[in-house]
Amino acid sequence: MKDFSDYRKNYSKSSLLDHEIVKDPFVLFKSWLKMAEDDSQIDEPNAMTLSTVNDKNEPRNRVVLMKMLKKNGIVFFTNYESKKGDAIKKNHNVCISFFWPSLEKQIIINGICSKISKKESDDYFYSRPLDSQLGAISSDQSKEIPSREYLEKKFNEIKINSSNIIRPNNWGGFFININEFEFWQGRSNRLHDRIVFSKSNNDSWITKRLSP
Ligand SMILES: Cc1cc2nc3c(=O)[nH]c(=O)nc-3n(C[C@H](O)[C@H](O)[C@H](O)COP(=O)(O)O)c2cc1C
Repeated sequence: MKDFSDYRKNYSKSSLLDHEIVKDPFVLFKSWLKMAEDDSQIDEPNAMTLSTVNDKNEPRNRVVLMKMLKKNGIVFFTNYESKKGDAIKKNHNVCISFFWPSLEKQIIINGICSKISKKESDDYFYSRPLDSQLGAISSDQSKEIPSREYLEKKFNEIKINSSNIIRPNNWGGFFININEFEFWQGRSNRLHDRIVFSKSNNDSWITKRLSP
């Protein structure tokens, strides 16, 4: 057995006090993202864990990249026929989280997922480097394949005939319309700050502080 019970870290770098709480959570989100972007210890500030629940009520997490931050939410790109794509088709509720250890900050977000327009998916797909486009075409994401060689052969065959690349219909963006944010700031003695913003019926935000 490996025992982690002695692993203990004290969080002391920052705080989220009442006077720092703004009305619009997107303002706070953007300011925390900027801190993550400016932090040399964070390689991919836009990496987030995405949780879905499938039609058997089984949850599943995986990391994806936030590619756009829009007025009411976040866009990421993926294969619509992957495990996450299948789950979202049946259950549009998703949860995402960002954890930036060097900032001692976590953000948990709940929202409703929907496909973005074909035009928006095209615009992003064709803006990617050629090899990334070919990679997306080569991968039936989440399906079993016989070997690594099979994948590389498929990629190379598509590359040879790549004069006219078309975005596959099963690849594109999802928009997460955000209805709740929780901002977590690590504090000393486990007395962390947790501030929740929930969207009300009239689209304003209700704020509350949770016990850590
Ligand atoms: C740092 C990082 C970034 C990733 N970005 C994406 C992404 O933007 N889109 C994507 O489909 N998969 C991305 N992946 C791969 C996913 O974590 C996952 O393996 C894949 O989407 C299949 O997930 P699923 O079978 O649950 O649908 C990323 C993985 C890592 C570690």
